[in-house]
Amino acid sequence: MSASGKFAGVDFSEAEVEKLTPDLEVSGQGFRCNRGEFVTYWRQGRVQREVDARISQCWIIRHGDALAGYITLLADKLVVDEQILEEEGVQYRTFPAVKIGLLAADRRAKGCGRRLVEWALEYVATEIASLLGVRFMTVDALYDPDTNPPYNASSFYERFGFQFANLDEVLPPPVPYRTMYLDLKPLIDLLSGEDLEQVNIDE
Ligand SMILES: CC(C)(COP(=O)(O)OP(=O)(O)OC[C@H]1O[C@@H](n2cnc3c(N)ncnc32)[C@H](O)[C@@H]1OP(=O)(O)O)[C@@H](O)C(=O)NCCC(=O)NCCS
Repeated sequence: MSASGKFAGVDFSEAEVEKLTPDLEVSGQGFRCNRGEFVTYWRQGRVQREVDARISQCWIIRHGDALAGYITLLADKLVVDEQILEEEGVQYRTFPAVKIGLLAADRRAKGCGRRLVEWALEYVATEIASLLGVRFMTVDALYDPDTNPPYNASSFYERFGFQFANLDEVLPPPVPYRTMYLDLKPLIDLLSGEDLEQVNIDE
């Protein structure tokens, strides 16, 4: 399905992703999201408060004056049941990560959610991972049992390769989300050119 309404004809796959800075005034007027609370988070200032408090940073996609989507990122610690890096000689069950905090797209801005996630993975793999240890991307994928059918954001994240952090995931979860993670190392290696260097050395 393609973008519709005021976003008709817009290809979000390469859309500019802008950092939310104090000089950027984006009211969110007319922002429509499948989950109304994500409109409220923007319109009633939760996102801005988190940025002001340095709890997260936020990036947005706009089309003209209209907000098409936003994503927040923050530092996190991934805790898993197994030693998932044992093959690399790393015997931890907790790892440094960057978390997708809030993610929302206007329901008419098809492709906006994917663009924001793909942008975030690449941004963290290139800009952040070279500055400090960050092996994983995490997200608490929203699960709401009170809608029919239950609202389940995890299937969106699975498309990018995210998997559940806890093997014994039960439905409905005891909290309204399920933690997921994605290994950034393949992307970090690819984008840093290490894969290519390895090929050259082997030759
Ligand atoms: C989740 C969300 C950000 C996705 O954004 P979007 O712009 O609708 O996503 P895209 O149009 O880029 O979709 C990419 C693909 O994922 C699919 N998809 C979108 N939402 C999905 C969901 N909840 N579950 C499964 N697949 C989903 C789309 O159908 C599309 O599939 P296609 O490539 O085969 O066409 C958006 O639906 C949203 O804002 N939801 C409400 C808030 C929310 O759940 N945020 C995440 C909380 S953790």
